[in-house]
Amino acid sequence: MSKQDTHFFNVFSLVLGLLMAIAIGIFAFARVVASHTQDKQVMAEADYTKNVSARLALPAQEAIAGQDNSALAIKVAGPAAGSAAPGMPGTGTQLFEQACSACHGQGIAGAPKAGDKAAWAARIAQGKATLYQHALNGFQGKAGMMPPKGGRTDVSDDLVKQAVDHMVQISQ
Ligand code: HEC
Repeated sequence: MSKQDTHFFNVFSLVLGLLMAIAIGIFAFARVVASHTQDKQVMAEADYTKNVSARLALPAQEAIAGQDNSALAIKVAGPAAGSAAPGMPGTGTQLFEQACSACHGQGIAGAPKAGDKAAWAARIAQGKATLYQHALNGFQGKAGMMPPKGGRTDVSDDLVKQAVDHMVQISQ
């Protein structure tokens, strides 16, 4: 090996050694930083603590005679007393959006489009009573088939009337 080669290897080894020392230094530094922060943050993580307590919870609970077992009562998911069932429209506008707009929103299947004054003028002229009747009981006209209550036979007559009011109001 020439002198030059020896020199090259020495410098090369030195550089390699330095890089390794730096890498180890960064690694050690990262560990030190992590030991101060990581564990603490993991332990404080809301999801983590929730999962841990869920895993620690007893797999089953027993009702014991003579004790308060109310915590074991089967909770029936359902509407709170007095409020409408979830997904049930509470106002005419909501019913319109949930049911009527399927046809009346864009004027599908011959339905007079809500907001289209020309399409509604003659219908409104029949009077609200007729419109209510046709909305509640269904109506086969020249344009098409209006299903009873727009298919929502589960809602009250009043709500359907309110939906008619809403449609009339935005169409005149
Ligand atoms: C499946 C489609 C469809 C749905 C859903 C629907 N309608 Fe209709 N509706 C029609 C069609 C079609 C007509 C036009 C019938 C005709 O004049 O030939 C109509 C007409 C009407 C009329 C005018 C009746 C008349 O005498 O001119 C009213 C009022 C009405 N609908 C109210 C409602 C309300 C309120 C709802 C929601 C609760 C609703 N519709 C949902 C299809 C629908």
